[in-house]
Amino acid sequence: MLRNAAVLVAGARIVAVGPYNDLRAAHPDAAELPVRGVLFPGFIDCHTHAVFGAPRLDDHERRALGESYQTIAAAGGGILESVRDVRARGEDQLAGLARARLDALRAHGTTTVEIKSGYGLDLETELKQLRVARRMAADASPAVIATFLGAHEVPPEYRDRRAAYVRLVCDEMLPAVAREGLARFCDIFCEPGVFSPVETRTILVAARRHGLGLKLHADELDASGGAELGVALGAASVDHLAGVSDAGIRALGDSDTVAVLLPATMSFLGRSRQAPARRLIEAGAVVALASDFNPGSSPTVGLPGVMALAVSQLGMRHAEALTAVTVNAAAALGLAEDHGQIAPGMIADLVAAEVSDWREVAYWVGANVVTAVWTAGSACPRLSGPISLGLNVQA
Ligand code: NIG
Ligand code: FE
Repeated sequence: MLRNAAVLVAGARIVAVGPYNDLRAAHPDAAELPVRGVLFPGFIDCHTHAVFGAPRLDDHERRALGESYQTIAAAGGGILESVRDVRARGEDQLAGLARARLDALRAHGTTTVEIKSGYGLDLETELKQLRVARRMAADASPAVIATFLGAHEVPPEYRDRRAAYVRLVCDEMLPAVAREGLARFCDIFCEPGVFSPVETRTILVAARRHGLGLKLHADELDASGGAELGVALGAASVDHLAGVSDAGIRALGDSDTVAVLLPATMSFLGRSRQAPARRLIEAGAVVALASDFNPGSSPTVGLPGVMALAVSQLGMRHAEALTAVTVNAAAALGLAEDHGQIAPGMIADLVAAEVSDWREVAYWVGANVVTAVWTAGSACPRLSGPISLGLNVQA
């Protein structure tokens, strides 16, 4: 940490970082913008499902009354509820909702966000979600990385013909996504009761042939060898991991595959088991944190809140939590070369927080300590009023 520091920015990139007096003397003509408090690298949310319609309040209430995520899903709620909803909405409407939600994420310091499809589960709707993500990417900020998650669940019309759905993903969806250049990564929900390790391998190998990077939702509730499989396939990240096995921890520890932990999800689902962050870190794994922002298991907009959970629920130190939403989250998206650090050559994504101790960024639960955000060297507009996260409210 530097005190009385300055950051010199030219265009979209950081040129120099150092003591204010040195930089001022070396660049007497540079315009100056004072920042109060602490300046952080922009936060990188490397796992979200930010293109969706309605929040799933019925699921929330049913869980409060004792039903589990899996029971609700098996009864046609859960992910499939959002699938029905997203299939029925137009692209423009989904784009309007996504814009408001990304503005909220950015107000909490998110300067880069990964967005997954996976509420379509048919060719047309998967492409519709990814086109919404592309429209978000065309806006100035936050920067967007899109991920194809056609294998998020088996859609009802394929319930008795899973193999045919896996073929649809491999033979029709992946080629279409690759042809339109709509995604950088392919993800899959590898979990007992959803997709098996064999199905996961089939889909990810096909994705790799189409030039996509690989990600897995794996070992979220139970271990099924997903972490080991992700490492063996050279995945960029394996995400969730609350149920990861000892062998999975060892595999991640010996690899460059990032372990993305999502503590807000486990906490929102009311589950007491969290990912074994300490054991992963001690094994040498690269640990990142993300919001998992979605309408069912994590309506979480702010990475500072996720960091606070990481410290209090996962036993991560503040410095580990900050690294996990910057440098390591950049690595989970293949962006580490020029994102996630305040250093010369990096993209000038910066977040100011009006705090006197930098650890406060992972401390004030429920408050937003972020006071200003810059992406690629440009100041982001402040929100003009309260943010509406749900569906548009009629007067
Ligand atoms: O990461 N686990 C699977 N997928 C999402 C949940 C999406 C949803 O419930 O809508 C997750 O938690
Ligand atoms: Fe997820």
